[in-house]
Amino acid sequence: MELVIITNIQHSKEKQIRIGVVGAGRGQSYMRVAAAAGLELVAICDTWEEKLKRVGDELGVTTYTDYDKFLEHDMDAVVLCNYFHEHAPFAIKAFEMEKHVMSECAACHTLAEGVALARAFEKSGKVYMFAENYPYMVYNQEMRRLYQKGEIGEFKYGEGEYVHPDPAEVKLARSCGMDHWRNWIPSTYYCTHSIAPVMFITDTRPVKVNGFVVPYDFSDPTQTMHMKRSDTCATIICRMDNGAVMKSLHGALRGHGNYVRIHGNKGLMENCRHGDKGRLRLWREPWEKGEDEATEVVYKPDFSAHSDKATKTGHGGGDFFTSYHFAEAIRTGEQPYLDVYRGIDMSIVGILAWRSALNDSAPVAVPDFRKESVRKLHENDDWSPDPKRKKDGQPPSSILGDIEPSEPAKSLAKQVWAKQGYVE
Ligand SMILES: NC(=O)c1ccc[n+]([C@@H]2O[C@H](COP(=O)([O-])OP(=O)(O)OC[C@H]3O[C@@H](n4cnc5c(N)ncnc54)[C@H](O)[C@@H]3O)[C@@H](O)[C@H]2O)c1
Repeated sequence: MELVIITNIQHSKEKQIRIGVVGAGRGQSYMRVAAAAGLELVAICDTWEEKLKRVGDELGVTTYTDYDKFLEHDMDAVVLCNYFHEHAPFAIKAFEMEKHVMSECAACHTLAEGVALARAFEKSGKVYMFAENYPYMVYNQEMRRLYQKGEIGEFKYGEGEYVHPDPAEVKLARSCGMDHWRNWIPSTYYCTHSIAPVMFITDTRPVKVNGFVVPYDFSDPTQTMHMKRSDTCATIICRMDNGAVMKSLHGALRGHGNYVRIHGNKGLMENCRHGDKGRLRLWREPWEKGEDEATEVVYKPDFSAHSDKATKTGHGGGDFFTSYHFAEAIRTGEQPYLDVYRGIDMSIVGILAWRSALNDSAPVAVPDFRKESVRKLHENDDWSPDPKRKKDGQPPSSILGDIEPSEPAKSLAKQVWAKQGYVE
């Protein structure tokens, strides 16, 4: 695979890149980091008027409730932080209006959308950046640097984990409305935070997946008092294009943390699970290490560039680097490392792993949408558990079938959603 230089790109002092951000939830982090990354925020868009007005007033930018009108604003690029399952159609519209696009996860919600997104991107001549921030956490950037230097040899086995439990009230506040995507996306779908770091460090892509889920837990109040109708968590086993195997774990198990582990044929590297998780552990077998090398080294890496700006932003600095690389890609005209194809690769793994899980975890091939001949085979695949578009024969949200939230959960949800200003 081609090697793309991630850091040390010189920041040119050309004209400002004007951006608009859709979605005033997660979108606020892009709004607030824009200036540091060399972007000028000029417009924001959200259908939730109260939230939009509050954020718009605070930031002093033009506000829109209508995406089509927003796209007519005089700007160069849009950042998509609307609902998880609605990014691809928004990206395609933005390309049609000649805007560069940076999109939150997921890049697409169906395979057909992945095909349409790749085609629209190619037609547009614009930049697409998949805004996966986890690869840019300091220990993941450092692991990429070590891997490129050959410190652990060739990638053989890797793990990426995104384990994120929360009390029911906290989860309800994040997922207002019975059909909010967080309440129905199958547990395999939110997989890019765990898969992206391994792909980034090792320059590999998944070619086959087996999906496994831990079913909905009727004895866990964080689930039974929530409106979520999907399972506890998912594990996806991926065969990578160099023959290596990767395990992705994500969901609401106890044991909050993000962990990455890469085994090569000459050593191992991982971020620490104990104490400061930003520390990196490098291990080489005593009989193989160089004379002046230690068997085990544990240290806290720093960013090789932009540490001052990155350390002020969320997700371990990842939130700075996504915007930074988006700006650099627009300035240089070179697509970023997390380009449209890698975004689609990691997003469709979650969809295909759900197919696998529903079929007793049988392997499913991951099509490569860089190739039009492959895209042709999937252009009508609209398989989706979205309650608004689901047709006969399309999948449930849980491996157990349709789960009906309990009456106490519904009444708690009403109270929490009202506090958020959400009215059904
Ligand atoms: N990378 C990360 O670390 C990270 C963290 C949190 C969320 N996210 C992602 O960010 C996205 C947004 O998540 P969120 O946490 O803000 O929650 P969310 O999905 O509830 O918020 C989306 C926002 O978009 C607005 N919106 C929805 N449809 C719209 C439309 N048609 N036009 C304009 N605005 C619209 C909603 O009113 C809401 O304010 C999701 O894809 C999520 O996966 C990523």
